Amino acid sequence: MIKKENFVLSIVKFAFREGAALTTPQASTEITAKTLAVVEAWREAEGPLLPILHGVQEEFGYIPNEALPVIANALNLSRADVYGVMSFYHDFRERPAGRHVLKLCQAESCQAMGSDAVAEKLRKLLGIDFNETAKDGSVTLEPVYCLGLCACSPSAMLDGEVIGRLDEGKVNEIVAEVRA
Ligand code: FES
Repeated sequence: MIKKENFVLSIVKFAFREGAALTTPQASTEITAKTLAVVEAWREAEGPLLPILHGVQEEFGYIPNEALPVIANALNLSRADVYGVMSFYHDFRERPAGRHVLKLCQAESCQAMGSDAVAEKLRKLLGIDFNETAKDGSVTLEPVYCLGLCACSPSAMLDGEVIGRLDEGKVNEIVAEVRA
């Protein structure tokens, strides 16, 4: 039976051997250690990849490049496998988000109630497109596909709080809040 310390050590070595886009050795070691803690919490679960990716994003606010080989090695997958799953789901970020995260619903009910026009206005006012962060780091704009608030379409979520029945007034309030 492989000892936990040996398992952890082998993954740390693998991560460094892979040379995964290191920023500084210290930052990379910290990312590796925190990723390993998430992996350890979920590796016995059935279908552990998604919970691990969620856990890593919760830890860092995004999925650092350095975390990919750590996860891949632990789950006996290739880094491409892990990246493929990560990039398939809109929930996962490859870069740190801004101070605020604004998710705008783009699913059917919200589309039928004018979410395209809301998106256009937000893009213009914030000066960014979906999946971009404002230059001043104030806000990241992301699409989301149903917030479970269809009865109040069009809907958004700002820093985890849902906002329904978006209209021009609410859009202006949101923009003022993220810029405050
Ligand atoms: S479709 Fe937008 S909240 Fe459900």
